[in-house]
Amino acid sequence: MKVLVVGKGGREHALVRALAESPSEPELFCFPGSDAIFAIAKPVPVKTLPQLIAWMEENQIDLCVAGEESYLVKDEGLANLCEKAGIPCWGPHKQSAQLEASKEFSKAFLLRHGIPTAKATVVDTREQALAAIGEQYPTVLKFDGLAAGKGVAVCPDEASAQAFLQEVLVQRRFGDGRLLVEDCLTGPEVSIFAAIVDDQYLIFTPARDYKRAFDNDQGPNTGGMGAVASRQLISAELLDTIKQQIVEPTVRGLRGESLPYRGFLYFGLMLTPDGPKVIEYNCRFGDPECQAVMPLVRGDLAQFCLDGARGVLRPELIDFSGGWSVAVILASAGYPEITRNGDEITGIDQVSAARVYHAGTKQHKDGMWVTHGGRVLAVVANAETREAAAALAHREAAKIDFTGSQRRSDIGILHF
Ligand code: AMP
Ligand code: GLY
Repeated sequence: MKVLVVGKGGREHALVRALAESPSEPELFCFPGSDAIFAIAKPVPVKTLPQLIAWMEENQIDLCVAGEESYLVKDEGLANLCEKAGIPCWGPHKQSAQLEASKEFSKAFLLRHGIPTAKATVVDTREQALAAIGEQYPTVLKFDGLAAGKGVAVCPDEASAQAFLQEVLVQRRFGDGRLLVEDCLTGPEVSIFAAIVDDQYLIFTPARDYKRAFDNDQGPNTGGMGAVASRQLISAELLDTIKQQIVEPTVRGLRGESLPYRGFLYFGLMLTPDGPKVIEYNCRFGDPECQAVMPLVRGDLAQFCLDGARGVLRPELIDFSGGWSVAVILASAGYPEITRNGDEITGIDQVSAARVYHAGTKQHKDGMWVTHGGRVLAVVANAETREAAAALAHREAAKIDFTGSQRRSDIGILHF
C-alpha cells in the first residue's frame, strides 16, 4: 500500500509514525514534509497541488491522507481533486471543509442542526461589531477565515476589542473577511476527534490541549503548548451526551446537506455549566493533540484510513490503549510573537522513555538538528496515570536543550 501524507508539522510527524507502525506496512510519502518526516516517508518532488495530484496518479498512490487543513480548501480542494483522479482521500471535500475554513458557515450549520453552541452575530465593520457587543464583556471575536489559529480573541474589555478590531477589520491582517461577535462561554475545554465515513463514525481518545503560552494558563494564546489524552479524560456519560447532542447531529447534518465527509473531524468543545457546546470544528486532527493521541492507537491505522477513504468504516481494525498520554511542547525563544530559527538542538538522542515528534526543525548535513519554527518538538510519554505520564514527559523533555527553549512546566499537571 502506498500512502501519501499532506502536511509538514508535528501532527503529520505523529501521523506518519503511526501509519509506519501499521501492520499493513505501507510505503510512505510526504508532501511538503520535513527533514524529520523524510526519515520515514519519502519526499515528493513537486511544488503545487495540481502537480501533487499528477504525481500521485503517476506513482499509483493508494491513499492520500490530509494532515493539514489548508490544502482541503486550496484550488478545487485536495479531496475533490483526488476524487477526480480516482485516488482515495482521507480528508473531506472542499465544500465540507468550510466547517473549519468559515466560521460563519460553521455557526449557521450548528444552528440549523440544533447543535449546542454560543450565540453569535456576523458583522462587516468595526462599528457594527461594537454595536453587536454593546456592554457585554468579556466578548469573543472571530475572524471568518483561516488565520493560522490567530483569528480568535477573547476580549475582557472594550480596549482589547478595539485593538483586535483595528487589526482585523481596519488593517486587514488576515485579508478580507467578516467577523463573528460571539457570547463568551466558560468551562474546561475538550477536543473530540471523530473518524467520519459518510453516515458512520468512530470516536478516538479524547484529548485536551493547553493553549496559553505560560504556566497556569497565563500569557498569549498559542497553537498549543502541550496536550493530554485519555479515555478517562471525560466520563462515559459525558461522552455519550457529546455523541448524542453533538457528533450524531453533525454527521446527520453533513449527510442531509450532501456534504461529503471521509476523514477526521475535530470538535472543539467547551464543557459549560449548561452542558457541552461547540466552540469550533476543524477538518483535521488537532495539533498537538495528535501527538498525544497517536501513541495510544493500536492496530492498523493505515488500513483503517484506506478503507474509510473508500467508504467503509472498519472500527475493528484499531483500538486504543488505556492510561494517559502527555505531550509537552518545546517552543523556540519568543514564541508565539516571534520565532527564532537555526539554534542547535541537543539531547534528542538522550530521550529514552518518550517519543519525540518534530514540529519545527531542520537537520544539517552533519546530522545536527536546529530549530526551524515556533513550536519545535513534542515529547510524548505514556503511563497508567496522568501524573506518571506527565512526570515522564517532563523528565524526558528536560534532556533536550536549545537557546531560549520554552516549555510549560504544568502540562499534564494542571487539570480540570
Ligand atoms: P479557536 O481559534 O477557534 O480554537 O479559539 C481559540 C480559543 O478561544 C478556544 O480554544 C477558546 O479557548 C477560546 N474561545 C473560542 N470561542 C469561545 C467562546 N465562545 N467563549 C469562550 N472562549 C472561546
Ligand atoms: N490544538 C488546536 C488545534 O489543533 O487547532
